Amino acid sequence: IASCLVGSEMCIRDRFVCLLFGLSFLGGEMKAQQKSAHETGLRSKSTSELAELEQVITKVNYDESKVPVYTLPDVLTLTNGRKVTTKKEWVEKRRPELLRLFETQIYGKAPVRSKDLHFRLLNEDREALGGLATRKEVAVYLTKDEKHYLTVLMYLPNRRKGTVPMFFGINFKGNHAIHPDEGITFPSEERMIAYGRKRMFPRGSAASRWPVEMLMEHGYGLATFYRGDIDPDFDDGFQNGVHPLYYKKGQTRPAEDEWGTLAAWAWGMSCAMDYFETDKDIDAKRIAIFGHSRLGKTTLWAGAIDPRFALVISNDSGCGGAALSRRKFGETVRAVNCQFTHWFCRNFWQYNDKEDTLPVDQHELIALMAPRPVYIASAEEDRWADPKGEFLSGVYASPVYELFGLPGLPVKEMPAVNQPVLSGTIGYHIRSGKHDINLYDWTQFVKFADKHLK
Ligand code: GCU
Repeated sequence: IASCLVGSEMCIRDRFVCLLFGLSFLGGEMKAQQKSAHETGLRSKSTSELAELEQVITKVNYDESKVPVYTLPDVLTLTNGRKVTTKKEWVEKRRPELLRLFETQIYGKAPVRSKDLHFRLLNEDREALGGLATRKEVAVYLTKDEKHYLTVLMYLPNRRKGTVPMFFGINFKGNHAIHPDEGITFPSEERMIAYGRKRMFPRGSAASRWPVEMLMEHGYGLATFYRGDIDPDFDDGFQNGVHPLYYKKGQTRPAEDEWGTLAAWAWGMSCAMDYFETDKDIDAKRIAIFGHSRLGKTTLWAGAIDPRFALVISNDSGCGGAALSRRKFGETVRAVNCQFTHWFCRNFWQYNDKEDTLPVDQHELIALMAPRPVYIASAEEDRWADPKGEFLSGVYASPVYELFGLPGLPVKEMPAVNQPVLSGTIGYHIRSGKHDINLYDWTQFVKFADKHLK
């Protein structure tokens, strides 16, 4: 458009044609942005909120020399200043203290799961994927009336003896999007209304992130459910999703220290785990949970609150996930809170631009997994998620693993790109490329799980 208006070498007719192209391109862009606003939770933002967000995002730092000098809270020092020197003190004193701080200040407290939780096998195909796997869909009902539920999709390798270990993670686009397999149920109209969506992503559209066949060949099961089953990913003041099911009389939204959407998704993972414990085909003691990006943040929190998960994998989880908040590199606490007003509990907003006053930092979230193995994955071009901050969380969580006589993350310097560190109880890699979860990431996760779960 600019060149049509000011370019000097174009004739009038070319200017006109270019202008038309430019305007129609802009129209398409605006439509795409409106769509993505719906997807990302920007739907209910006022003009002033959008202006604030733009300002926050343009101020983001990507210069390592401008990372502020910071002091991290020591993972092995209690709030009262006493040092933790034994496993017992960690388990009985420091861990519960940290868990409570993360719960009340960052993610929000989730309610105890209802006794009405119950399960039903919806369908099973023992000859799925050309005979490679058994596919099951299971409803995990959250209420007695069965109006609220999540649908867990599972694939189990047919070549197996006894129970299998399994990878389990929430998906972004719907169960049907993880594989072109026509046998996966496509969400009904009624479900789409519950999700607040007019249409769903096409079948198999997220398949590059879900190497189902590869996992079957390595002897792992795979389970997933759609995030919208627990809480659609936009801010509607917590009227849809599971939150209202647990409001006290007169309550209309979660209190300052109560669950946001990420904590609700993590809570949903525990509901699915309640089902896995009843399934005779899988070994519920060998379940590795994983998640990419916002679902990576969710997975770390799920691993922290539910010790039944045996191994925890964070992929590009960034701010509010594996990255240290105090580094303020890439996405900051204010940036994530302004853009995704529904993800964390309201108390987390107190730390906007005040990361130094946080009573915890994210290395302590990693430490909450100890002594269970945890894997942190970053991507070189994903600077928004601060790969170095993700790596350092693993380094600074390691003293807790060492209390258990385990190596934690065995390197202190960031490894080179595509040189995974698989030998410790904390694993790490930074791969080349963008913010995504791909076969390279999965190859490392499987190697790490082979070491710890087999
Ligand atoms: C945004 C957000 C990140 C998040 C990511 C995702 O980029 O700022 O915090 O991890 O979305 O979930 O894809």
